[in-house]
Amino acid sequence: MSAGHSPQAFANAAQAKTYRLSDAAKKRIDKELGKYPADQRQSAVMASLAICQDEHGWVSPCVIEEVASYIGMAPIAVQEVATFYNMYNTSPVGRFKLGVCTNLPCQLRDGKKAAEFLKTRLGIDFNETTPDGVFTLKELECLGACGDAPVMLVNNKRMCSFMDAQKLDALLAELRAAAKE
Ligand code: FES
Repeated sequence: MSAGHSPQAFANAAQAKTYRLSDAAKKRIDKELGKYPADQRQSAVMASLAICQDEHGWVSPCVIEEVASYIGMAPIAVQEVATFYNMYNTSPVGRFKLGVCTNLPCQLRDGKKAAEFLKTRLGIDFNETTPDGVFTLKELECLGACGDAPVMLVNNKRMCSFMDAQKLDALLAELRAAAKE
């Protein structure tokens, strides 16, 4: 399941203070750094945060410290990036973060209905995580796919279009099965 970070990543979220860049993460960050001149390492900050989030499940204070140290930026500058963009999880989330667009064009085509459906099915509100740690529900701004409303995003990567009740139930079943693997 490409849109989900590993179960271990979710488990690791509780141990945020122990996070250190893995060799695999360093290798991926090095590849990003290679795209920019040596004196512009900070240009790789967004990719670096995304790489760590994939690995760790969220951008913890320790992730910010690690990224800052590795690419040579002030931690506060890295934190500003992490808190500005909503694709970064600045607190622990479930294995699958479900983002639902509720901006007006989507609302006019059942976006709100899709959000309410998910809240009822999962028994949680926006910004909450199911007790089993599988799902976190988020409200998103326009994803630039208004014609496909209602629109959702799974773990910032997988776009889901025309999410009526039937498709939402199928998605939840698929992700629940993936969570057990
Ligand atoms: S308003 Fe939902 S994708 Fe644009």
